[in-house]
Amino acid sequence: MNYRFPEGFWWGSAISGPQTEGRIKDDGKGDNIWDHWYREDPSLFFDQVGPEETSAVYSHYKEDIQLMKATGHNSMRTSIQWSRLFPEGRGDINPKAVAFYNDYIDELIANDIEPFINLYHFDMPLALQEIGGWENKEVVEAYVNYAKTCFELFGDRVKKWFTHNEPIVPVEGGYLYKFHYPAVVDMKRAVQVAYHESLASAKAIKVYRDLNLDGEIGIILNLTPSYPRDANNPEDVKAASLADAFFNRSFLDPAIRGIFPEDLVSLLKDLDYLPDYTAEELAIIKENTIDLLGINYYQPRRIKQKESSERLSDKPMPDDYFDNYIWPDRKMNPYRGWEIYEKGIYDCLINVRDHYGNIPCFISENGMGVEGEAKFKNADGMIEDDYRIDFLKGHLTYVHQAIEEGCNVKGYHLWTCMDNWSWMNAYKNRYGLISVDLDNDKKRTIKKSGYWFKEVSDRNGF
Ligand code: BG6
Repeated sequence: MNYRFPEGFWWGSAISGPQTEGRIKDDGKGDNIWDHWYREDPSLFFDQVGPEETSAVYSHYKEDIQLMKATGHNSMRTSIQWSRLFPEGRGDINPKAVAFYNDYIDELIANDIEPFINLYHFDMPLALQEIGGWENKEVVEAYVNYAKTCFELFGDRVKKWFTHNEPIVPVEGGYLYKFHYPAVVDMKRAVQVAYHESLASAKAIKVYRDLNLDGEIGIILNLTPSYPRDANNPEDVKAASLADAFFNRSFLDPAIRGIFPEDLVSLLKDLDYLPDYTAEELAIIKENTIDLLGINYYQPRRIKQKESSERLSDKPMPDDYFDNYIWPDRKMNPYRGWEIYEKGIYDCLINVRDHYGNIPCFISENGMGVEGEAKFKNADGMIEDDYRIDFLKGHLTYVHQAIEEGCNVKGYHLWTCMDNWSWMNAYKNRYGLISVDLDNDKKRTIKKSGYWFKEVSDRNGF
C-alpha cells in the first residue's frame, strides 16, 4: 500500500436533504425556493426534472444505509431540510419530520456510520424568502431558532454539526449570476445576504455552545484556490487576491478568525456597499468561530488582471476586478466543464495550515460529475467508472501529502453517495458511488468506484 491514512480517518460521502429525500403525499413538508421555482418555470431545470422526485431517500433510507455500508462509509453528511422541519420556516414543527430524522440518524448510528448534520444547503423555506430570505434579519432569527430546535432534538446523538454548506453559493446563484432563486443581479443585496449568512452561522454556534452539548460545530466552505496567470505580474497577483477575497476569504475569515477581510471591506466601503450591520453583531461573529472546517474542493480559479471592457452588469460586480484566465495546460472534465487540478486540494489544505491556525478540517466534498454514464455499464449492469477512481486517487494522493506535511485533515467525503438531483442541473451529471436508474424505479446499483472506495476505507489507504 502506498498511501496509508491516519487511524480513525473519516471515509464517506456527502449528500443533502433537498437533493435526495424527495416529497411524498402528506409528509408535511413545506415549500422551499426550489419547489417554488420549479413550479414557476420547469424549463429552467435539466430535462425538466424537479425537486419533488430526487432519489426518494425519504422512503428508501434503510436500504440506502446498507448501500453506504457496502461502499465503505464510516461517516456521512446530509442536511436537514428546514422546510421539512418547519413548513413555514418558523412556527409549527412538522412531527413527521422529527420522526423521519430521528429514525434516519438512529439507523445510521446502528450501522456504525457517524451522521454529520448540516443545517442549510441552499434550501430557503418559501415563506421566509417571501419576506426577503437572507436579506432580512428576521430570517436570521428564524434560522437560529431552527438551528436550536435541531440541536435540542438530535444533538444527543449527532456530534458533528455544520451551519451552512457553501454559503457563497446562494450569494452567487441568487444575487449575482442567476442560478438560484430569486435570480437577481445586485451586488449590494449579495453583500447583505453574505453578511447575514455569517451572522446566522455565528449565532447558531453561540446557541450550540450555550446548550453545552458534547460535540463539534463547523461550516462547510467550497474553496477555489485562485492562481494568477503570471505570479511575477503584480496586476495578475492583485486580481487573483481580490477574487480570493470575494469567493474564499469572505467566509473563511469570519468563520475561523471572526473578522472580515480588510481588502474586501475597503473595496465594499468605496462602493458604498457595506451591509447593514451593528457593532453588537460584529462582536457575536468575533466570539463565535468554528471548531471544524469542511472543505469542498472541485476546481481552481485562474485569474488575470482585468483586460476586457465587457461588464456583466451596469452596476458593480465582483468580475469588474478580474478576468478569468484559461490556462493552456488545463485538464478538463468535459461533462461539467470544470478544470481538474488535483494539486488544488493540497494548496487549500496548506493555506488552512499556514493562514488559519491549522484548524481541524476534512475534505467534505470532492467529486466528478459525468453525463451519460449508462454507456459505461458492463454486461452485469455495473457502471465501470475508472475515470472516477483515477480522479479519487489523484486527489487522495495530494490529501495524503498534505497530511504528511502537517495538515490537520480528519477525513475525506466524496460528493456523492448515490446519483442525486443537483439544482438546475437536475440529474444531468452523475457523481455517485452508486447509480440511480430513473427509468427503472430508481434502482440503485453500486458502481466500480463504490467497490474501490470500500476497499480503500477497509484498508485505510490505497
Ligand atoms: C456542490 C454542492 O457545490 O456541487 C452540491 O454542494 C452540488 O449541492 C454539487 O450538487 C455538484 O453540482 P453540479 O452543479 O455539478 O450539479
